[in-house]
Amino acid sequence: MEIIREASGTRKWGLIIMHLLLLLGDCLCSSRTTNIPLQDTFSKGRELSSSSSSPAVKLHVENHEQVVIENGLVRVTLSIPEGDVLGIEYKGIDNVLESQNQDYDRGYLDVVWNQPGKQSAFERIKGTNFSIVMENEDQVEVSFLKTWKSSMEGSSIPVNIDKRYILLKDSSGFYSYFIFERLEGWPDIKIDQIRIVFKLKEDMFKFMAITDERQRLMPTAMDRSKGEKLAYPEAVLLTNPSDPAFKGEVDDKYQYSIANKDNTLHGWICFKSDPRVGFWMITPSTEFRNAGPMKQDLTSHVGPTTLSMFVSTHYGGKDLTMQFRGGKPWKKVFGPVFVYLNFDRHSSSLWRDAQKQKSIEMESWPYVFPQSKDFLPSKQRGTVTGKLVVKDQYINSPNVADSAHVGLALPGNVGSWQTESMGYQFWTQANNSGDFIIKNIIPGDYNLYAYVPGIIGDYKYYSNITIKPGGVINLGDLVYSPPRNGPTLWEIGIPDRTAKEFYVPEPYPNLSNKLLNREPNNKFRQYGLWERYTDLYPKNDIVYNVTTSDYHRDWFFAHVNRKIGNKTYEPTTWQIIFQLENPNQQGNYTLQLALASANEAELEVRINDPKIDNPVFSTGLIGRDNAIARHGIYGLYRFYSINIAGNLTVKGKNTIYLRQARRTGPFEGLMYDYLRLEGPPQK
Ligand SMILES: *[C@@H]1O[C@H](CO)[C@@H](O)[C@H](O)[C@H]1NC(C)=O
Ligand SMILES: *[C@@H]1O[C@H](CO)[C@@H](O)[C@H](O)[C@H]1NC(C)=O
Ligand SMILES: *[C@@H]1O[C@H](CO)[C@@H](O)[C@H](O)[C@H]1NC(C)=O
Ligand SMILES: *[C@@H]1O[C@H](CO)[C@@H](O)[C@H](O)[C@H]1NC(C)=O
Ligand SMILES: *[C@@H]1O[C@H](CO)[C@@H](O)[C@H](O)[C@H]1NC(C)=O
Ligand SMILES: *[C@@H]1O[C@H](CO)[C@@H](O)[C@H](O)[C@H]1NC(C)=O
Ligand SMILES: *[C@@H]1O[C@H](CO)[C@@H](O)[C@H](O)[C@H]1NC(C)=O
Ligand SMILES: *[C@@H]1O[C@H](CO)[C@@H](O)[C@H](O)[C@H]1NC(C)=O
Repeated sequence: MEIIREASGTRKWGLIIMHLLLLLGDCLCSSRTTNIPLQDTFSKGRELSSSSSSPAVKLHVENHEQVVIENGLVRVTLSIPEGDVLGIEYKGIDNVLESQNQDYDRGYLDVVWNQPGKQSAFERIKGTNFSIVMENEDQVEVSFLKTWKSSMEGSSIPVNIDKRYILLKDSSGFYSYFIFERLEGWPDIKIDQIRIVFKLKEDMFKFMAITDERQRLMPTAMDRSKGEKLAYPEAVLLTNPSDPAFKGEVDDKYQYSIANKDNTLHGWICFKSDPRVGFWMITPSTEFRNAGPMKQDLTSHVGPTTLSMFVSTHYGGKDLTMQFRGGKPWKKVFGPVFVYLNFDRHSSSLWRDAQKQKSIEMESWPYVFPQSKDFLPSKQRGTVTGKLVVKDQYINSPNVADSAHVGLALPGNVGSWQTESMGYQFWTQANNSGDFIIKNIIPGDYNLYAYVPGIIGDYKYYSNITIKPGGVINLGDLVYSPPRNGPTLWEIGIPDRTAKEFYVPEPYPNLSNKLLNREPNNKFRQYGLWERYTDLYPKNDIVYNVTTSDYHRDWFFAHVNRKIGNKTYEPTTWQIIFQLENPNQQGNYTLQLALASANEAELEVRINDPKIDNPVFSTGLIGRDNAIARHGIYGLYRFYSINIAGNLTVKGKNTIYLRQARRTGPFEGLMYDYLRLEGPPQK
């Protein structure tokens, strides 16, 4: 490891200026037209030279009960001392939040936690001390602090939580961030979820946008409550919707999930106002989210509701729960995230403008304006660079780790980042030559982890990496030797940690969500696909001939149970058949098996004798990631190198039997990522 330079002290000012320029630049080049009646204050704010004459940020406290912060563009009302968001006024809409909801049920931070052995509690975090952190014409920052005392044990989460809100001049939205701190000796707890929630005005915000394609007018909360609950309460068949166009469709918030690395912008558009108004959640960094870049989580959903998920166990299960043990002190900053509001005649312009704003926020990360010293600006952070090379002795192709995902997370075992929820994670994607640079890393001790598209397994750098403020560490060439024992005899799938290349069936026409039809690669998000296995394989399970079968067509995306009526299921056994002309009876073969998901499953592997009691290999009971029910196409990645003694093989036809042995319900099962049979080592 080598420190090659210290970050320059002028960086901070450069960033401030860049941030302001970007904010202004966006206003100047946005598609807002002069036909739209603009407030005076707003049009002034759009002129570069007159930014000093645009309205100052103002704060006033009303009746000791509410604090209002405003900047001529938005006006945000927060409750004192709780710090709930009561109102957001924008473009003539007096409150974009649902004013019919209780004060605590419009914009809030909540945590799902429990004491070990006790029931889990859902707690909306209420500040008890309000204070003004900064108040000048360019910026207001307010704090709502909840402090914990031992007298509160059991009734409130033993964490001090400082909820901060920031409003900047000329900024069409507001920032919020949350500082969590536990002091030494505080009681053990577990946390399953931390998120912020905004509930928008139901009769106004009807159009949801979460990706370029996944956007449309949505059903209502009432449509859902009048509908029919399907296999679990989140999935509802809309039997009696207010708009008949939705009749017969399924709505389920898990259909709108996105992987952390892409879960950066989503929201709603109001068609009722003139011009139209957009409400957007922009999450400019995923450093504070748990479980790494591939972890999927919720976005926006029918309500209309918009979330920013900081921590959850979705698509991973209890392995992702935060565990606080032994009274160790701990502190973490979640956010800032940006609630952005915009207006235009056209929804598409609103979406494009929100994307542009997202880029501005991401480029300005880490922000320079948060006042808490716990949020570190760039110059107090460090950098790691290097080049990842893949060495697989049986592959002659170039050894670069093309587009590898490389990241820092707390020290742990190989691959542990995907269940790591306590610390920060910093990820990047290498370029085509495997070169990577990870910037803005918060000082501390980490391991460096990586996974490479098209390559099995997980990389971990052998030693801990200590990041110092302003430090740059160049690791040079790093070599990843993926699992390999012998030459490839056959393979099924693509090692990409998902099951998306396999056969994803058509949804039941009476259970589809038409929103998902807009993206062809989204079919896996449809409801009820697990039951299609029984339709396609009513009696006999998959038999996959490695010579003639095609995994796009012949390998069902999930290894699920067969429904045999009245909530009864039977286990299924898939066969892979292959020829061996000259089996090596003395050598060892290897089945490299990568799973993309497991849910209360037990996979048994046998060869040539499906009845034998002791399988060649069993995973034991694994997984609670629930990716089948939640339309995930992957959950947690698991990798196994399975030894198959050569004396179990025969000349001619051989069969590998894959049996998923648990069968109490529809959601026990697996998704494969990739399988490869390797012959005995060649020396
Ligand atoms: C909370 O406010 C009270 C009264 O204003 C003050 O005495 C106390 O020190 C504050 N507590 C914290 C933790 O700031
Ligand atoms: C990858 O990045 C390195 C370092 O920035 C650069 O030298 C190299 O040309 C890049 N390679 C490709 C293929 O972009
Ligand atoms: C790396 O850090 C972890 C956690 O701090 C520690 O347990 C471990 O001993 C360290 N390993 C080395 C090689 O220093
Ligand atoms: C959907 O159609 C299938 C037959 O294709 C039928 O078995 C099922 O009961 C229908 N489900 C609903 C909710 O109507
Ligand atoms: C389904 O099984 C349950 C319990 O095993 C039984 O009570 C019920 O009568 C069965 N229903 C049908 C239609 O067979
Ligand atoms: C095959 O594997 C077994 C069990 O791991 C081992 O004992 C044996 O030495 C191996 N045989 C060869 C030829 O490598
Ligand atoms: C097959 O080979 C394994 C070691 O690779 C050995 O343990 C086992 O006894 C052999 N079985 C037979 C039937 O020879
Ligand atoms: C797989 O299909 C090929 C081509 O039809 C056939 O020759 C072979 O016998 C099949 N393999 C087995 C093990 O049945």
